[in-house]
Amino acid sequence: MQGNTTVVRPDFWNGKRVLLTGHTGFKGSWMSIWLKEMGADLTGFSLTPPTSPSLFDDARVAEGMRSIIGDVRDLSHLVSVFEEVKPEIVIHMAAQPLVRESYKLPVDTYAINVMGTVNLLEAVRLTPGVRSVVIVTTDKCYENREWFWGYREDEAMGGYDPYSNSKGCAELVVSSYRRSYFHPDRYAEHKVAVASARAGNVIGGGDWADDRLIPDIMRAVMEGRPVHIRSPYATRPWQHVLEPVGGYLLLAERLYTEGAAWAEGWNIGPRSDDARNVESIVRSICDNWGDGASFEIDSAPQPHEAGYLKLDISKIENRMNWHPVWRLPVTLAKTVDWYKRYTANEDPREICLSQLNDYIRDSKETLY
Ligand SMILES: NC(=O)c1ccc[n+]([C@@H]2O[C@H](COP(=O)([O-])OP(=O)(O)OC[C@H]3O[C@@H](n4cnc5c(N)ncnc54)[C@H](O)[C@@H]3O)[C@@H](O)[C@H]2O)c1
Repeated sequence: MQGNTTVVRPDFWNGKRVLLTGHTGFKGSWMSIWLKEMGADLTGFSLTPPTSPSLFDDARVAEGMRSIIGDVRDLSHLVSVFEEVKPEIVIHMAAQPLVRESYKLPVDTYAINVMGTVNLLEAVRLTPGVRSVVIVTTDKCYENREWFWGYREDEAMGGYDPYSNSKGCAELVVSSYRRSYFHPDRYAEHKVAVASARAGNVIGGGDWADDRLIPDIMRAVMEGRPVHIRSPYATRPWQHVLEPVGGYLLLAERLYTEGAAWAEGWNIGPRSDDARNVESIVRSICDNWGDGASFEIDSAPQPHEAGYLKLDISKIENRMNWHPVWRLPVTLAKTVDWYKRYTANEDPREICLSQLNDYIRDSKETLY
């Protein structure tokens, strides 16, 4: 028997006081746009946009929300913002999210990703009224065994490079804070439910980060030069940015409405046959773009990155009835469509809103 997948409910989010860290980034901009569309009372806390151009500026994300520029390493600033905003729901996305950057800046990466998470949870602990907390980590938090099976939520944390390892450490911080201060067995006393979410590589319009596959491809094709790709055989669970963003929203809603039963780690990823290697992604994007877009493989030695990475999403599919909405070909087509419309000078905010509406429509029609 088939049924409909669980979808994000605007009536739940309307009027909710939400504090989102990382709102000036790629995922944070998409999430802010979605939350504002649903009428959430949204506050963002982040450093300035990490890229130029940025989706945050191009899509005028700061309009219609409270946008606070601050550093998650600054505990007293974070606590004062929590005291003022009194959030009911907290979604923590602020991070140094790039593997290569983490090799150059390991101390900053650990300070932001690990101590930033400690500070965030400390602010939650010190602020009465927070009910639901989602900490965003990554599929790279698992100890990578270079095997072909997907990682499950109860597998060991690890991470080879400083970024992956810092996210494994952030997961351990979440686990300790949950057991020490927000234990599910004592939920009736504290009323705070804390979960972590481990998503795969996201793609979609408006990403301009350095050293990330889609922005690297888009910069090259827009300039009419061949795309240089490293690690062509690295396999990742690719998904459209709206997939994890929707998953985080659903998780936050469950934590708010049902509490302790959802206070654990959750994988959010594509169907297993949508995990593909880099070369196949680049080939599809060049085909979608047309205009003679082509690629070359860069054979220079590269710093270590995981070769094979897959997530097992059985838990969230079975328990939450969350399912991926867009398969890989749709994800790639939507991504190319975003950048094509951008280069044709369409308003980035309107492009995001129209793709968000498509996604919401398709999610209501997704059967499992
Ligand atoms: N993009 C992906 O493929 C992917 C995959 C898995 C997990 N993630 C995770 O999702 C989250 C968002 O990633 P993204 O791709 O949007 O990254 P991004 O670089 O576009 O955004 C990062 C955000 O964090 C903020 N930030 C960085 N350092 C900060 C600090 N010290 N204090 C306050 N804010 C700070 C930035 O200002 C920005 O708003 C991150 O936690 C990342 O690790 C991303």
